[in-house]
Amino acid sequence: MAKLDIITLPDPRLKLVSEPVAKVDAEIRRVLDDMLETMYAAPGIGLAAIQVGVPKRLVTLDVSREGEEKRPIFLVNPEVTWVSEETNIYQEGCLSVPEHYDDVVRPARCRVKFLDRDGVAQEIEADGLLATCLQHEIDHLDGVVFIDHLSRLKRERIAKRFVKQARLQSRVGTGRFGIG
Ligand code: NI
Repeated sequence: MAKLDIITLPDPRLKLVSEPVAKVDAEIRRVLDDMLETMYAAPGIGLAAIQVGVPKRLVTLDVSREGEEKRPIFLVNPEVTWVSEETNIYQEGCLSVPEHYDDVVRPARCRVKFLDRDGVAQEIEADGLLATCLQHEIDHLDGVVFIDHLSRLKRERIAKRFVKQARLQSRVGTGRFGIG
């Protein structure tokens, strides 16, 4: 397994619509395993492939609490098939929007169908943090970041801050936007 680099705002790849996976093969499993390692190391509770620059419909998740046994979930081509009318507010963050947290309103429960790491079709019904996390990650596959759910004013203010940060970083030459 290998830890991958996580892309952050304002990287334009975060707006890409990711491609469905045709077959869950060894190559896809390798990407999933690398994503899980990257997510745990961050640390994060969810990661979409585009966040490591891979435009494929792949997600890793683990909402187990610290000290609990790890419960990784691998999702290939996940699709939300149902959402509740009841909503929930969670303060969300994102590894691609470092150090920013904001309240996001989403359906409180959802049902998601997907292929697992072995390519077997599964469907789960989720509530609480898992429901929020699933919707947040599946959004990434369609080029949507959680700040897109905020008011335009808020979103533009946050986006501007990240553009400014990137400009500063490229000027001081941290290597982050340099070669390699
Ligand atoms: Ni995210």
